[in-house]
Amino acid sequence: MYEQVSHSLLNAILDDLKPEIRRQDLRHFYTRLGANFYAIYSLFFKLYGQREDFNEQMLRLVETMAKGYINRSAELEAVDIQREQDHNWFLSQKWVGMALYTTGFADSLADLAVKTPYFQELGVNLVHIMPILMCPTGKSDGGYAVSDFRQIDDRIGNLNDLRQVAEEFKKRDILLTLDIVLNHTSDEHEWAKKAAKGERRYQDYYYIFDNREIPDMFEQSMPEIFPESDPGNFTWNVEMQKWVMTVFHNYQWDLNYSNPEVFIEMLDIILFWANQGVDILRLDAVAFLWKKIGSTCQNERNAHLILQLLKDCCQVTSPGVLFIAEAIVAPVEVIKYFGEDAIIAKECEIAYNATFMSLLWDAIATQNTKLLYQGIKHLPAKLERATWLNYVRCHDDIGFGFDDNDVRAAGYEPFAHRKFLVDYFSGHFEASPARGMVFMRNDETGDARICGSLASLAGLEAASESGDPVKTEIAVNKILLLHSLILSFGGIPLLYNGDALGVVNDYSYQDDPSKSSDNRWIHRPKINWERADLRKKQGTVEYTLFNAMKKMIAIRKETSAFADYNNRELLDVRNEHLLCFLRFNHLRPSERVLVVANFDANPQYLDLEVIAGSGINPYAQFIDLYNGCKPTQYNRQIVLPPYQFYWLTEI
Ligand code: GLC
Ligand code: GLC
Repeated sequence: MYEQVSHSLLNAILDDLKPEIRRQDLRHFYTRLGANFYAIYSLFFKLYGQREDFNEQMLRLVETMAKGYINRSAELEAVDIQREQDHNWFLSQKWVGMALYTTGFADSLADLAVKTPYFQELGVNLVHIMPILMCPTGKSDGGYAVSDFRQIDDRIGNLNDLRQVAEEFKKRDILLTLDIVLNHTSDEHEWAKKAAKGERRYQDYYYIFDNREIPDMFEQSMPEIFPESDPGNFTWNVEMQKWVMTVFHNYQWDLNYSNPEVFIEMLDIILFWANQGVDILRLDAVAFLWKKIGSTCQNERNAHLILQLLKDCCQVTSPGVLFIAEAIVAPVEVIKYFGEDAIIAKECEIAYNATFMSLLWDAIATQNTKLLYQGIKHLPAKLERATWLNYVRCHDDIGFGFDDNDVRAAGYEPFAHRKFLVDYFSGHFEASPARGMVFMRNDETGDARICGSLASLAGLEAASESGDPVKTEIAVNKILLLHSLILSFGGIPLLYNGDALGVVNDYSYQDDPSKSSDNRWIHRPKINWERADLRKKQGTVEYTLFNAMKKMIAIRKETSAFADYNNRELLDVRNEHLLCFLRFNHLRPSERVLVVANFDANPQYLDLEVIAGSGINPYAQFIDLYNGCKPTQYNRQIVLPPYQFYWLTEI
């Protein structure tokens, strides 16, 4: 869009660019900047226009982008151009992800490069390597308390090793995903240290207060993230004799995005990592980016403007790079991280589908899909060029943050139901085979979350101890059932390290004082590669799980109806133990797959007459894409054994 004020400002800025930038060949940069400048200017003005130094900051912003562009390699630019031409590339069913800690999967980044054949073996072609940057020992929050945004933790490697990994991935068509921890820094970051020493400039990078007056105002409406280990949202800093906002741990200082310098610094860091060959950046804790007294300080309008601005700027210099929003918030809020009032994502192209994840666990605990059905039904419609990250487990806890209205519609009282879920997964509920742990119980609100590995939550740990093969089979089937759904729902499935091998809880964190107060470590295991070799030995749990997942992944990749073009129809099958939805090829709707999953311990039947209205022929014969067999069909009913899923096509 042509707009005079921004255009004349752009001309002035281009005249003022540093000579070393002006001398470069910036053709593509100028065209992209021209196309995005009005949006960038408007957003930057909305956020920072009241400042006297606005024009100066705007110049710095453009210089930062220009520098990012100049440092982008020709090879990466070629990828950008290719992705611009095929701009829906990430909606394809071909992508299957895995998230892992470098040291949970391998010994180091160099070793991870050596172990890449494992991903290919399983069919994984998108790897999220969790934080690898410098963090203080013992005060790391699993890598999310960064003390240097440009330095890789030397215990796991260096930039060269990462380049090696990126190269190895490129060769094998695997996408590299890394984290950008946007919301806070470690208290040992240079900025925090300078602030603590009294430097005003760096104190302005954070939220720092002389006394409790403002912190107390904030506290009235801010929830607590880690109420057990780090209650409150502010920490007293002895050196400064001031209060610092620390929403997460007391050593994680929240960055102040009302200061444009913070925005520009973080953009510079994003562009730096984009230029290291990263395909996707996971933006951590994005819901928290803007703080306002009187609010929860989550999902604020300005947090969205910041993300839009980051996206617009990133598009100028590295348009091929995608963003993942990590916003573990209510469905109506999550959806906004794709960008509102748009067709294509204007904030993040990908977002964690935390609602689906916790609903799946609800169905496991209750053995019915009442809430799962309500929750999916009310999942707001997504933009066209945007997709979910569907997962069952990740490195964080599970919160049961579903919509209370859905909980009631499913026939439960919200408070009692959440209590049941926490009891079920922490093994306090008698009949439960789950071995999880309660995470961050908040006595004031009654809130609590759950930790534990997928295998242990699904009952595999308890089953193995009991030595009962029937129990083991049930746990294995539950694990596969959950994966069959994240692989077919629509979006990018994200497996978690160890889950394809049935790795159970790792209790060793309890002996490590730097970890023992955070039981998320229970599900951040280190792969035992000797044990992992059992995936090649028939008759073992590792073999069964690994090969089943490998097969599911391969079939997903060949099933065009599983691509994500908002091509899913949720079906009401009038059987509360089943989840059923139809996926169809968005271009050829007759190519479709009927996904059905039985969460019950008893066999259940799917009545085809009930869903005839959705174009399903109740007299048709079906074949399951996964096992290649016809399911048991009696008249117009399909029988599902306990914890069975089918991916059905008509024959
Ligand atoms: C994200 C991470 C989580 C971390 C938090 C604070 O939510 O996934 O592990 O504790 O951010 O950085
Ligand atoms: C909260 C936050 C999420 C974070 C998690 C860590 O759920 O919303 O971002 O990962 O806490 O436990």
